[in-house]
Amino acid sequence: MMAVSADDLREAVRRRYAEAALAVSEGGADCGCGSGACCGEGEADSTSFGEALYEAEQRGELPEAATLASLGCGNPTAVAELGEGETVLDLGSGGGIDVILSAKRVGSTGVAYGLDMTDEMLALARRNAAEAGVVNTHFLKGVIEEIPLPADSIDVVISNCVINLSVDKPAVLTEIARVLKPGGRLGVSDIVAEDRLLADQRAERGSYVGCLAGALSRGEYVAGLEAAGFENVSVEFTHEVADGMHGAIVKAVKTLEPERKGLPVVQPAAHAGCC
Ligand SMILES: C[S@@+](CC[C@H](N)C(=O)[O-])C[C@H]1O[C@@H](n2cnc3c(N)ncnc32)[C@H](O)[C@@H]1O
Repeated sequence: MMAVSADDLREAVRRRYAEAALAVSEGGADCGCGSGACCGEGEADSTSFGEALYEAEQRGELPEAATLASLGCGNPTAVAELGEGETVLDLGSGGGIDVILSAKRVGSTGVAYGLDMTDEMLALARRNAAEAGVVNTHFLKGVIEEIPLPADSIDVVISNCVINLSVDKPAVLTEIARVLKPGGRLGVSDIVAEDRLLADQRAERGSYVGCLAGALSRGEYVAGLEAAGFENVSVEFTHEVADGMHGAIVKAVKTLEPERKGLPVVQPAAHAGCC
């Protein structure tokens, strides 16, 4: 089989999620999570991915298009314990569901950023945020391997079923550590494999764009986060989506003492704004 380059893989991911955003925008069904089109193909079904993972009360706070476009594998806003006035960043924000919920949690003195590489998703998210009436959101175009925000500017990083899609996971984890303030928190939902599964066994269970083939194992996630400068790392499996592969909650805290741990010390940003 011919090897696929990282650029081709990322482009395949972008195309697939652009189609998903357009399907929602045009009033059709979503991309068919649980039926093989996006995150959630193979053995997984609509109870393992998407809007079913949010409480009815939270869904009630959202425009219909935002819930329809929900393609995640968990609910990071339920685990991140957001506080009034905090600055939150959602990596791979899709149709904006977690950014809108976060914006409501942090209130008018806080800010919620969404970052996504797909124009169609950004357009959908901006429309959804306007419809939800939240004004403290900013949707940025870019890749999660090079976050377009200054160092030490974010209190909480969240993400929902996106890190498994990255073609360079060490870069993502390093970037998260860079943008978080010391002591800042990470609360992520993602697909994670049991350590017994080798990379080719993960690929047998589903495609890369379907969020399975690119998933890290629990041990790889923990080691990657610790190497990037995180402490109190935990990876909790919540629901099995394929044999040996799980929806999981990943939590960690950026160390307060990078020097003691021999990690790069980030210089404070000259300005806290962006873009
Ligand atoms: C499975 S969807 C999840 C969307 C959203 N988090 C949710 O829960 O509905 C993946 C999203 O991540 C974006 N994405 C995937 N890889 C990315 C990358 N390397 N950089 C930025 N965005 C990315 C896609 O465009 C898509 O919107």
